[in-house]
Amino acid sequence: MGEVAQVQMSKVSLTVNGRVMEKYVEPRKLLSDFIREDLALTGTHVGCEHGVCGSCTVLFNGSAIRSCLMFAVQANGSEIKTVEGLVESGEMSTLQEAFIDSHGLQCGFCTPGILMSAYEMLQNDTRPSREEIKEVLSGHLCRCTGYEGIIKAIEKAFDRKK
Ligand code: FES
Ligand code: FES
Repeated sequence: MGEVAQVQMSKVSLTVNGRVMEKYVEPRKLLSDFIREDLALTGTHVGCEHGVCGSCTVLFNGSAIRSCLMFAVQANGSEIKTVEGLVESGEMSTLQEAFIDSHGLQCGFCTPGILMSAYEMLQNDTRPSREEIKEVLSGHLCRCTGYEGIIKAIEKAFDRKK
C-alpha cells in the first residue's frame, strides 16, 4: 500500500454577509465550493464551473465576481456577500420582491447570481439603460425566462429605490 499524501490545510478568515468566518480549507478548493460546502450557503449555485454561466456570482469586496474562478484561499481577508445576505431583517429585499413581481425567475437556478449582479448595479445611483442592463446580463445564462422579466425586475428595483 502506498502512502497517502497529507494535504496541507490553509486558514481562511473572511467576512461573509457581515459575519466573520474562519475555516481551514484545502488550497485547491474553489470559493464557490467553499461557500456551499464549508459555509453551508447553498443559495450560491454552481453550473458550469468555468466562468461562463454566472450562477456562482457573489460580491467580493463590493464587486460581482464568479466564485468558481477563485480559490477560497484567495478570498482570505475579504468581504463576501451572497444571495442570503440580501435578506434585510428577515424580509426579502426590494430587489428580490421586484423579481417576483416582474416574473424575473422560473426555475430559479440562475437567479442568485443575477440578483448579485443586479445588487451591484443598484449600488450605483445612476439608473442603467436597458442596454446597460442587457450588457450585465450577457454574463448570465438563463434558459427559462427569455430575460425580459429580469430586465423589468431590475428596472423596477431602481424605480423603487427613489
Ligand atoms: Fe461559475 Fe458558471 S459556475 S460561472
Ligand atoms: Fe431558470 Fe433562469 S430561471 S435558468
